[in-house]
Amino acid sequence: MAETLTILGLESSCDDSAAAVVRHTPGQAGEILSSVVAGQAALHAAYGGVVPEIAARAHAEKLDICVEQALSKAGLTLREIDAIAVTAGPGLIGGVLSGVMCAKGLAAGAGLPLIGVNHLAGHALTPRLTDELAYPYLMLLVSGGHCQFLLVRGPQGFTRLGGTIDDAPGEAFDKTARLLGLPQPGGPSVEAEARKGDPDRFAFPRPLLNREGCDLSFSGLKTAVLRARDALVAEQGGITRQDRADLCAGFQTAVRDVLIEKSRRALALYLAEAPTAPAFAVAGGVAANQAIRAGLQAVAARTGARFVAPPLKLCTDNAAMIAWAGIELFRAGHRDGMELIARPRWPLDTTSSALLGGGRKGAKA
Ligand code: KG4
Ligand code: ZN
Repeated sequence: MAETLTILGLESSCDDSAAAVVRHTPGQAGEILSSVVAGQAALHAAYGGVVPEIAARAHAEKLDICVEQALSKAGLTLREIDAIAVTAGPGLIGGVLSGVMCAKGLAAGAGLPLIGVNHLAGHALTPRLTDELAYPYLMLLVSGGHCQFLLVRGPQGFTRLGGTIDDAPGEAFDKTARLLGLPQPGGPSVEAEARKGDPDRFAFPRPLLNREGCDLSFSGLKTAVLRARDALVAEQGGITRQDRADLCAGFQTAVRDVLIEKSRRALALYLAEAPTAPAFAVAGGVAANQAIRAGLQAVAARTGARFVAPPLKLCTDNAAMIAWAGIELFRAGHRDGMELIARPRWPLDTTSSALLGGGRKGAKA
């Protein structure tokens, strides 16, 4: 199939309603004609986390507006679209259902093929859209909802080398910020504090480092921060600005060290397959952290693998990644019909063992 494809993508698995149009001609780079993201942060702010029912209702209200805007920004009508791609899981089921129903309506109304996309595949295939990476490459998804190492062999070929057994790192950043009275999202505020702190003052654990393999764990780290804070409060009656900065620096360095060591192991497994153009790609909000990013970049450099981090707006939830994954799946001959179902859990690699942990942003698969 060598023709140009123009696909409309829809995303609604968590707290962003999004629609995008992406075009691809074989032999050329993919082109994002439009990408609209309507975040819901303000709707959930008062509750300290995403409320699934509020999210689902907001998606149902916002998605068609996002679609209209995405088409109009691309200067296209549905008639010029070749297929509709939609996140069919994993995620908060009400939101995923809103997206799948909207996509089915559009596909049925316009007589277009429908393609169900795994949200994690959307993240994992993004470096092919942004940097034209060749298969196979190693991917680290590291956000508020995801944390896993994937060996990406094709649009439906994923080997999961390891992942978190409890919290995702972004979740740990957010909880740490909450413990220390810092604003949400926690990642950027903890990172800013960490710059002023001493990373060696508190001896925080490096969870699972002495266990073989690439699995990770972050909930103990967050508990260690809680204990250190409580000890300071018991001792001094509160924490100083410097204490807070030191706690943040210690926490961030522990997260970084764990991610670096596990990435080193995942890279060794990947490189053992002797890929011709080795590449290590990262995606997700936590990859925006300068200290963590520099650490990951250095591990990749030591092994000779190219380090790729797509622009942040394509690393976080968006629909361009879903449209792109739709293009890859379409070219691979994949089509879904009206029987497409919304799936709260949908592991990318069905051969690796199931993981524990649901987390505040839904199933981590
Ligand atoms: O990928 P993302 O926007 O959404 C999903 O979780 O799907 O990631 C958001 C997460 C939040 O937990 C946020 O605190 C974290 O990424 N984050 C960071 C930084 N910026 C965002 N974590 C550490 N350092 C940062 N600079
Ligand atoms: Zn995501």
